[in-house]
Amino acid sequence: MRLALLLLVATSCAREERIFKEPVKLGGQTVSADTLNNGRVAYLQNCRACHGDNGDGKGPAALAMRPPPRNFTQGSFKFAGVLDQKLPRDEDLVRIVRQGLHGTGMLGWEVPDQKLLEIIQYIKTLSPKWQEDDAVGVAVTIAPDPWKEAKREEAVARGKVLYHGFAQCLGCHPGYATKQEIYDAGKATLGSGTTDFRDHMYLPEIKDSEYGVKILPPDFLFNELRSVNRDTELPDLYRILVAGVTGAAMPAWNPMTLPNKEADIWALAYYVRSLTLLKGTPGAEELHQKLASQNDFVPPPEAAQ
Ligand code: HEC
Ligand code: HEC
Repeated sequence: MRLALLLLVATSCAREERIFKEPVKLGGQTVSADTLNNGRVAYLQNCRACHGDNGDGKGPAALAMRPPPRNFTQGSFKFAGVLDQKLPRDEDLVRIVRQGLHGTGMLGWEVPDQKLLEIIQYIKTLSPKWQEDDAVGVAVTIAPDPWKEAKREEAVARGKVLYHGFAQCLGCHPGYATKQEIYDAGKATLGSGTTDFRDHMYLPEIKDSEYGVKILPPDFLFNELRSVNRDTELPDLYRILVAGVTGAAMPAWNPMTLPNKEADIWALAYYVRSLTLLKGTPGAEELHQKLASQNDFVPPPEAAQ
């Protein structure tokens, strides 16, 4: 009994003792011991409940939370918004914490600026990945929008064809077009249309992730998008398309691999936004009705060759 008590005291002291005495190089910056010690205290006050004492995502409030809080010891971030699926820059982490991740337990937190920057440095001590050279990514450059409001409809139409054709977004996300439209989209952008449709193609397809859970890609007519904010919706979509969602099956799209490069990323963003704008309106139900009541698809004779 006494031994158990002593052990308990010893382990809780060990945890208290996670004190930094020297500066540490993290993500290419040298961070002072004071910053890290302050960051640790602020982390325990603000983030521990979900992200856990040790940053492993197993805090007392994390039980049964879906998606689960990030395990910072893994050094993997979904919404960094940088190229090559690397680690986020400080400004990316600030954006994530300030705006929150919609539809998850990660709300937008109002920690004072200075404290937040200290917390961010502290989080980087939790995974050795932050000490590797060139671990931090380069920000996605958001190219100028070639469509703008005047050509919005054209952009949406182009995005719809890419979504169901060239980019095959409907392999994971739901399809939002009839089988005939999907066939035509493939023919227009890939040279041949598919006649082989996945089962339940109007529902998302559950995917494995690196985060210990399977993830259902969003249905844009119904789900909230984690990193996409109402007042910056189009650029946020552009960023997530080019950056991808690291560790969660959502690929990163290099604009150079699309037929019309950046203009096509923008077109996809416009198309996704046209769907999110239908959310909660009768238009969403109408689209479902149209897809549910479409005629049987008869592959054109050319498809058999
Ligand atoms: C109420 C629970 C809760 C609290 C408190 C909380 N978070 Fe989170 N956090 C989450 C959840 C849940 C996720 C995972 C969301 C996902 O996977 O889509 C997350 C994810 C994150 C991510 C990962 C983002 C990415 O791109 O992968 C960061 C960074 C983060 N939180 C920082 C913080 C910081 C800093 C604090 C304290 C100021 C904090 N969180 C407080 C629940 C919480
Ligand atoms: C291989 C599967 C896969 C493909 C292909 C795919 N996605 Fe995703 N996508 C996902 C998953 C999984 C998520 C959810 C990530 C999460 O929340 O953890 C996602 C999330 C998203 C999000 C939401 C980001 C946020 O902030 O919540 C958007 C927007 C998106 N995808 C658009 C697209 C578009 C457009 C395409 C085609 C160009 C596409 N996706 C292709 C799997 C895929």
